[in-house]
Amino acid sequence: MRNSTRSGVDPFIVMDVMEAARKAEEAGRHVIHMEVGQPGTGAPKGATEALAAAMEQGPLGYTVALGLPALRQRIARLYGDWYNVDLNPERVVITPGSSGGFLLTFTALFDSGDRVGIGAPGYPSYRQILKALGLVPVDLPTAPENRLQPVAADIQGMDLKGLMVASPANPTGTMLDRAAMGALIEAAHGQGASFISDEIYHGLEYEAKAVTALELTDECYVINSFSKYFSMTGWRVGWMVVPEDQVRVVERIAQNMFICAPHASQVAALAAMDCDDELQANLDVYRRNRALMLDGLPKAGFSNIAPPDGAFYVYADVSDLTDDSRAFAAEILEQAGVAVTPGLDFDPQRGHTTLRFSYARATDDIQEGLERLRLFMTRRGAVRERA
Ligand SMILES: Cc1ncc(COP(=O)(O)O)c(C=O)c1O
Repeated sequence: MRNSTRSGVDPFIVMDVMEAARKAEEAGRHVIHMEVGQPGTGAPKGATEALAAAMEQGPLGYTVALGLPALRQRIARLYGDWYNVDLNPERVVITPGSSGGFLLTFTALFDSGDRVGIGAPGYPSYRQILKALGLVPVDLPTAPENRLQPVAADIQGMDLKGLMVASPANPTGTMLDRAAMGALIEAAHGQGASFISDEIYHGLEYEAKAVTALELTDECYVINSFSKYFSMTGWRVGWMVVPEDQVRVVERIAQNMFICAPHASQVAALAAMDCDDELQANLDVYRRNRALMLDGLPKAGFSNIAPPDGAFYVYADVSDLTDDSRAFAAEILEQAGVAVTPGLDFDPQRGHTTLRFSYARATDDIQEGLERLRLFMTRRGAVRERA
């Protein structure tokens, strides 16, 4: 059967790493997982209890397309608590994960062939979803001196209809401060491009608080999710905040594309928002892990890293060690028993000399992983020196 040209999207290379790790485990090896981009913890207890109670009470049928009103209101309240932003709950749209939010956003804002700027390195699915919708992803190669984030000058003359940023970002964990975000918004609007802010890693920040685009403008789409801070990846629930005059546009698309986000997940998500103690305890684990990584990675020989302001990743430039990150990741898995992600997923041009390390798992695993990496690199160095 013939396929559309649009369907020719690239695979997620990290999935290949996960498969290789799975095979190694099947063969009896113990693997430390630093490749996965999700919390090792499950949904907060309060969330699962609320869902259990709701299941006793009646059928969890469709909700309205924009989502449970109580959840939209609670999310609006979060913007007051986290950023001191007074948000109209009518502007909140509940989505099937932020991935569902991307589909809604790109469909609502762009026509076939429109050019949308994305930072490189960046989350791979932006590029692939844009392609699958007949849009043109425009990679904006970022610089270490800009914390591997796009800056206003990068988009001048690019003829963009949209600009997508993420702060904290995947794979780097770096953030845009208020001035940097403001300059990007101004530059995007200056060329008539819609500004989209992926804020999925908000809440997972360690030194400065992440800035939401809503602190700076109402003329933007903000995309967020319960997957990361709220530790609910598999529940497939997230949200968007859109300008008032965009709500009906998004609602019509959501009605047709998804009907609604999973009802059960919306119930659990609402309760998760009141589980601060458990969520802060998760954050404390990431904070400890991050400190271990910042100490242990350079000791192992991975010293050229992006400043990991948030999320649970460290992105390392390994150009002094390899020009084939895929082969290097395979070697690390084989020799050290540690699964890491080659940068190619995130940056098709420069990712052959970068690796992403995730520290989302338990602290014991991180400690063990760092020790294995140190021993592996020592052996590798010794072998190299002898050769
Ligand atoms: C930057 C970023 N955005 C979006 C997603 C997708 O998240 P979800 O669809 O689970 O909300 C991810 C997943 O890792 C991500 O890293």
